[in-house]
Amino acid sequence: MFHNRQITQDIYYVGVNDRQKVKFENLVPLYNGVSYNAYLVLDEKTALIDTVDIHFGEILVDKIQSQLQGRDLDYLIINHMEPDHSGSIRLLRKYFPNLVIVGNERALDMVEGFYGIGGATLKIQDEQILSLGRHQLQFFLTPMVHWPETMMTYDMKEKILFSGDAFGCFGSLDGGVIDTELELDRYWEEMYRYYANIIGKYGSPVQKAIKKLAPVPFEIICSTHGPVWKAYRQKAVDIYDRLSRFEAEEGVVIVYGSMYGTTELMAETVAQGLSEAGIKPVIVHNVSNQDLSVILSDIYKYRGCIMGSPTYNNGLFPELEDLIKKIESRGVKNRIFGCFGSYSWSGAAVKNLSEFAHHMSWKMVEQTVEEKQGLKKDNYELCLKLGHQVASLLIDTQQKNN
Ligand code: FEO
Repeated sequence: MFHNRQITQDIYYVGVNDRQKVKFENLVPLYNGVSYNAYLVLDEKTALIDTVDIHFGEILVDKIQSQLQGRDLDYLIINHMEPDHSGSIRLLRKYFPNLVIVGNERALDMVEGFYGIGGATLKIQDEQILSLGRHQLQFFLTPMVHWPETMMTYDMKEKILFSGDAFGCFGSLDGGVIDTELELDRYWEEMYRYYANIIGKYGSPVQKAIKKLAPVPFEIICSTHGPVWKAYRQKAVDIYDRLSRFEAEEGVVIVYGSMYGTTELMAETVAQGLSEAGIKPVIVHNVSNQDLSVILSDIYKYRGCIMGSPTYNNGLFPELEDLIKKIESRGVKNRIFGCFGSYSWSGAAVKNLSEFAHHMSWKMVEQTVEEKQGLKKDNYELCLKLGHQVASLLIDTQQKNN
């Protein structure tokens, strides 16, 4: 029944869109859905590269059968075992009992561990080549992009890199599949959010993978999430390259928590100070009203970060503390930092935020502001000064880098 989208002469897109899942990994909200991409290669032998979430397993099988037209499926190549891609393995084994499951040692261990299935497997080594006939598939082990078993598969004939999660993004594929068929703005934004929240801890493995693949002359990237990158493949690689080196754009994110408005007014004032000093963009997030995945994405994107918190239970505002844990666990590097806060009877927030910046080895400006109760003129002026100081440090660092 399905007319699958053709990527090149022998290669078909058989992935699916998930517009039902509310949170990816039950953690990160999906505002525009997500795609689970799988690809079918038709040659003397047939091969499927990755599967999809089990909730869409029957659709995947229908799509594959529409294309095979009675032929058998010979190989399943496993680039990544996270269940959004491996979830349909057991179902495929039922429909295609002769299927040979191809993966590295760690992936095949996980097939057994997650799905408890036996049957034919082919254990491959790094850079090994599997021939399907006209198509030679070469495997590149890229551990920790995003799990230890992750690898990429390169079709030497079509110059296609099947990259697993790498170069992927959130967002369902609405109608089109290849980048030039889609309006890309929302995918670029979702690439930052996907990277920051899902891959962000693994910057160093991403760098290793990019270096390892540098000699591979791929012309198309088929990731497991988001568009097939053809015309814009270099932009996708560049974004991952920059993010995995924690290289950021000019701009400042202000994140604050506020119970009764004092810290919020301070945030507004700091933002004004930044703007007066010529900084753009200045992005202000109320941590209570914005999802942490969006804030984290902006912190990966921009070089300046300023945090404001009231003192709460002798510590930080709880939502801000959650954000800080996410930043710490990902080891975000090279940010310029400032902080402010308020308290009703005893201040602790600015001390805690300063310790956080020290722990992260972020460059922190000298000026901090901590107000007791309502914001008053002296500290209002110091909030402007804090904005000016962060702006100066950003501009100085930018000039040194240029
Ligand atoms: Fe899309 Fe790491 O799985």
